[in-house]
Amino acid sequence: MGKGKYDFIDKEIIEKIEYYKSRGHRVPKLSMIKTPEQIEGIRASGVINTGVLDLVASEIHAGMTTLEIDKLVHDYTFDHGAVPAPLNYEGFPKSVCTSVNEVVCHGIPNEFEVLEEGDIINVDVSTIYKGYYSDASRMFVIGQAKPRVQKLVDVAREALKVGIQEAQPYAFLGNIGNAIETLARQHHFSVVTDFCGHGVGLEFHEEPEVEHVGTRGRGMLIVPGMVFTIEPMINMGVPDVFIDEEDGWTVVTEDEKPSAQWEHTIAITPDGNEILTY
Ligand code: MF3
Ligand code: CO
Repeated sequence: MGKGKYDFIDKEIIEKIEYYKSRGHRVPKLSMIKTPEQIEGIRASGVINTGVLDLVASEIHAGMTTLEIDKLVHDYTFDHGAVPAPLNYEGFPKSVCTSVNEVVCHGIPNEFEVLEEGDIINVDVSTIYKGYYSDASRMFVIGQAKPRVQKLVDVAREALKVGIQEAQPYAFLGNIGNAIETLARQHHFSVVTDFCGHGVGLEFHEEPEVEHVGTRGRGMLIVPGMVFTIEPMINMGVPDVFIDEEDGWTVVTEDEKPSAQWEHTIAITPDGNEILTY
């Protein structure tokens, strides 16, 4: 037998994929399974990505502009031999997305946006290092937020956590969405469905889409070697969003109530998962 591109994939994994496919489940393409070397590359990218977020965490303060956050991200990333993935991505003009209060995601850093006491901000950092992509975001609370706003931030963080717990070999992507949706509903928050998590690693956005709502036992089979993000956007009010037509990027809640999001890049392992952006 000749040497094939996917010979690195264990026979057991191939057999399980065939089995679940025969039972009518959606299954991943073999191209969604990464080699150990590729995962090592994404892990190294993730180390820089986490370094960026740790730097932002140590520097962020009331009175700072979102453009200053962009400069921190830009300079740290290049100083570490990496490139910020957002920069020039489909025309995005900055190195990081900064999304304040009612901005859901894809906020563009700018010199006029000053962080104020009580604001919440999502800082979404994505890094390309030696060709490998990693992607993670955190929320930061400036000073003290109103209790219900702080709750939103906490539930969004918990939503990422319960989502990651469901990301197990031979489970289904629908389990992840279901866990997130269930948690959000318990707290009378809503889940944004216009944006998803995604495969990541060799490109910024790869297959599959990882929805943050779903049904247990439905959606694509999860197998070892898959690498994807989970990045639930949780809204205080309605789940509906619109895109600012001035800049074509900024995603805002329809009711202009606050939104919160946390994100990690994870790799599925034979016995669970590894967070590559810790
Ligand atoms: N970082 C976002 C994500 O989590 C994507 C941002 S695209 C950009 O998928 F162009 F706005 F940077
Ligand atoms: Co992402």
